[in-house]
Amino acid sequence: MSEILQIEGLRAHIGGQQVVEDIAFAVPATGVTALLGRNGVGKTSTLKAVLGLISRTGHVTLAGERIDGEPTHRIVQRGVGYVPEDRDVFSKLTVAENLQLASRGRPSSERRDLVESLFPDLVRRAQQTAGTLSGGQQQMVALARALLNENRVLLVDEPTKGLAPKVVQEVSVALETAAQTVPILLVEQNLTVVRRLAAGAIVLSGGRVSYRTESARALLDDDHLTRSLLGVGGEAHDAGPAPSRAKGTGGAHRAGGNAPSSASAADQEAAR
Ligand SMILES: Nc1ncnc2c1ncn2[C@@H]1O[C@H](COP(=O)(O)OP(=O)(O)OP(=O)(O)O)[C@@H](O)[C@H]1O
Ligand SMILES: [Mg+2]
Repeated sequence: MSEILQIEGLRAHIGGQQVVEDIAFAVPATGVTALLGRNGVGKTSTLKAVLGLISRTGHVTLAGERIDGEPTHRIVQRGVGYVPEDRDVFSKLTVAENLQLASRGRPSSERRDLVESLFPDLVRRAQQTAGTLSGGQQQMVALARALLNENRVLLVDEPTKGLAPKVVQEVSVALETAAQTVPILLVEQNLTVVRRLAAGAIVLSGGRVSYRTESARALLDDDHLTRSLLGVGGEAHDAGPAPSRAKGTGGAHRAGGNAPSSASAADQEAAR
């Protein structure tokens, strides 16, 4: 399978503290790949390191071309879209103004059609100031901003955080449709959403990769493993029936040389 983003030996620090330690993984050129892990393990920092928003070393290649030496604006221009954890909409500007500001160049009519079909509510609210939108509507604006541009990959950080279940569902549908047009690296704590959207998954622990799998579903179906890696059960009650699969397959493996010391004792136990 071809890969759009490859990360090797990525390290990053914030204010003298190492928050990303020797991370390596690849993002396939299609579909959704989940980036998982408990709170504070470095998921957001990994996305920021890829974008050059925090000081980093290591190799990052986008479609085979090194981008790790480039400043953030060039990385964005090359087509790495970012939907940050806290949405960051301009609260005093209207929905339409937020979208205009985010556009790099004139969006194609296909892009505009995609965004309008995904978020009809935003079309209706084009003249509403973004600060008066609900959290879910602001998340739609944040996603719409990224989707208006011709991106080669999207880095999306916890898009369903703090949203009501119905809105989580709407955001999931939007991401699912968007993923048919652009590969997505998705940080997500809601495992029902992960189960629905993600093909593969990478799990971080202590700033390192502790687990990788080509089948996020197989990971989530293994309750013991999910608990040891993520601290919560992998069962998803409203995700519909899982397709039949062979347990323990799907290309899953503990991170090897990349992160020998990252798995906790419980993780090591789970791997046996
Ligand atoms: N601005 C900052 N200054 C100092 N330390 C920071 C800063 N931002 C993050 N950190 C630390 O870096 C580590 C990784 O944080 P990060 O936000 O990347 O984790 P995360 O996996 O995204 O967590 P969460 O699930 O809570 O979003 C944590 O120990 C955090 O306390
Ligand atoms: Mg985070």
